[in-house]
Amino acid sequence: MMGLKEVYILGKKFRELIPEQSLQERIDELAARINNDFAGREVVFVGILNGAFMFAADLFRRLDLQARITFIKLASYAGTSSTGTVRELIGWNEDLKDKQVIIIDDIVDRGDTLEYAVNNLIIRNVTDIKVAVLLLKPGSYRKNIRIDYVGYEIPNDFVAGYGLDYNGFGRNLTSIYSLVG
Ligand code: IMP
Ligand code: MG
Repeated sequence: MMGLKEVYILGKKFRELIPEQSLQERIDELAARINNDFAGREVVFVGILNGAFMFAADLFRRLDLQARITFIKLASYAGTSSTGTVRELIGWNEDLKDKQVIIIDDIVDRGDTLEYAVNNLIIRNVTDIKVAVLLLKPGSYRKNIRIDYVGYEIPNDFVAGYGLDYNGFGRNLTSIYSLVG
């Protein structure tokens, strides 16, 4: 681990897990796949605030599609662990009926947030739902929803940076960091 960048967020030590340049290159690849898979089609992206705002912006600006983007705000995390309950802080205000939707989230842990978003899209009679997430914790994921575009599979450790927070802080870091110890 020598030479890897360390940062403190609210007094806790974090170590670099995915550097900025790798993230940006990986997002290039995800965007290229989405551009290819949806060429010539109209897509509505639904970003899940707060965590996904940075990933959503970087992914969306690389898209070469007739695309819209909207956001909902969901919360399932308190501190460094999942609560298992999803709260809707900002709801759905777009007509998504008969639309091809791609959900954008920062990270899937247990999958409660993703399941909540998917169930809410199903009752809105969308045509089809795909899912793009930057990070997936396979050791923690307990749902069967297919995740179509995954940036990285990571261990079950708590991470922050690039939109992801530790108690509200750390979102402005441009790399992903993992909690040490
Ligand atoms: P899930 O509902 O358990 O899948 O948790 C997903 C949500 O919790 C994500 O959208 C994040 O906002 C947040 N989250 C999960 N794991 C982490 C983490 O390691 N760091 C920061 N936020 C996380
Ligand atoms: Mg989130």
